[in-house]
Amino acid sequence: MSKKKVLIVGGTGYLGQHLLQGYADITGRPYDLAFTHRSSPPPQVLLDAISGSLAFPVDLKSGSGFEAISKTFGQPDVVVNCAAISVPRACEHDADAALAINVPSSLVKWLQRFNEKSTLLIHLSTDQVYEGEKSFYKEDDVAVPVNVYGKTKVEAEKFIIEQCSNFAILRSSIIYGPQTISPVPKSLPIQRASKCNWYLMLVGLIGYHVFKWLRLSHNLGDMTPHYSNQCLHRRLIVESGPQLTYPWI
Ligand SMILES: NC(=O)c1ccc[n+]([C@@H]2O[C@H](COP(=O)([O-])OP(=O)(O)OC[C@H]3O[C@@H](n4cnc5c(N)ncnc54)[C@H](OP(=O)(O)O)[C@@H]3O)[C@@H](O)[C@H]2O)c1
Repeated sequence: MSKKKVLIVGGTGYLGQHLLQGYADITGRPYDLAFTHRSSPPPQVLLDAISGSLAFPVDLKSGSGFEAISKTFGQPDVVVNCAAISVPRACEHDADAALAINVPSSLVKWLQRFNEKSTLLIHLSTDQVYEGEKSFYKEDDVAVPVNVYGKTKVEAEKFIIEQCSNFAILRSSIIYGPQTISPVPKSLPIQRASKCNWYLMLVGLIGYHVFKWLRLSHNLGDMTPHYSNQCLHRRLIVESGPQLTYPWI
């Protein structure tokens, strides 16, 4: 039986690299693995660490690069879309580019060209679709984004719901864990945590945010990568809950 094909779109980003490493570490490599990158060439250290996978340059804004995937890799069984302009400040700076990239229209149109509409699209959204006025949002709470990043993510969700039949949308809050194989250019919470005195940071935050940060700092004690034979090996801690205004974004 042929192996399932998994394509990580945005494989050079923070989550993308961890996913690639997780898949590559699974004993017996039960999947054919490919990923996309925008910057070229992709980091050699990443290619070395996940040898055997295919790398494709793709620009979600223009849609260039997908044809090469069709020819070489074929139709994926699963696509995990980790590509985005994920830094809120960058979205504010260039809202048009953020919309064009964060709404994955070129990716979805490419998938729609396959005769079999069987590919599962797993799309990363964010808790920044919520207003952030309360705790523990549920999926059916109304999305009221307060920044450009959140607005583009809501548009992406609407687009996928309208256009796709086989999909899952994950509204993640902050994702933190170890640095990636090839360090990502953006500032990560773990880097801040190692440099800052947590207690001084807490003093600067009030009320509800203090509570959330206490939970965050508690969880940071559990940062060591975990290994298991059953699922993706590198454990990333995903803090669910309401939107926070992170001082470094
Ligand atoms: N990290 C978090 O805490 C967090 C929290 C909630 C939700 N999310 C969501 O989770 C997903 C992954 O986040 P992340 O932190 O891993 O993001 P990231 O580190 O910023 O990675 C973004 C990825 O998108 C790619 N990309 C950027 N512009 C592109 C374009 N025009 N065409 C194609 N690819 C492009 C980048 O490629 P290059 O590296 O080659 O430029 C990179 O691989 C995003 O959708 C983000 O919104 C993240």
